[in-house]
Amino acid sequence: MERKSFLASFLLLPFARIFERQRVDIAKECKTQRDAEGPYYKEGAPLKPVIETDGEALTISGTIFKASDCSMPVSNAIIDIWHCNSHGVYDNDGFKCRGLVKSDDKGRYTFKTIFPPSYGSRPRHIHFKVRATGFAELTSQIYFRGDPQIQNDFARKAETSRVISLFKKENILHGDFDIYI
Ligand SMILES: [Fe+2]
Repeated sequence: MERKSFLASFLLLPFARIFERQRVDIAKECKTQRDAEGPYYKEGAPLKPVIETDGEALTISGTIFKASDCSMPVSNAIIDIWHCNSHGVYDNDGFKCRGLVKSDDKGRYTFKTIFPPSYGSRPRHIHFKVRATGFAELTSQIYFRGDPQIQNDFARKAETSRVISLFKKENILHGDFDIYI
């Protein structure tokens, strides 16, 4: 190797290391981050694709992926969902606004519910846990883009993929949310 090119590669080494580190960080970016469980989780919710109808209709769909490669779908994962009702109250006696959905053989899931209002100082949010064989349980929350309450809450630390955009189709709100476990 010529002295000049040796010197050039020696000088570029720190940059190469930075790029390498960034590549690793980007690869890790797909992992859905954990969030507070909150005080209202309740075990034993039933399997139901329609979680709640009393309120503004909202459908959430997405795919569950393996976070270690960011692309392998996870089938038969259980998503345990809970949120407040249209008055901002959690049902701690029964299972209103609580339900489980399962991912299909392509890792896809969908559920119908309501667009939960904000309560107290909290922005609108949907709590969820994901359980799948061979994966650590994930507990987190979904937020909604443009919600002014996010800035006053710990939700402001949520990664952008957990703050979802909604669109209206046939008068029903829809949101896409992929989960990486
Ligand atoms: Fe909550």
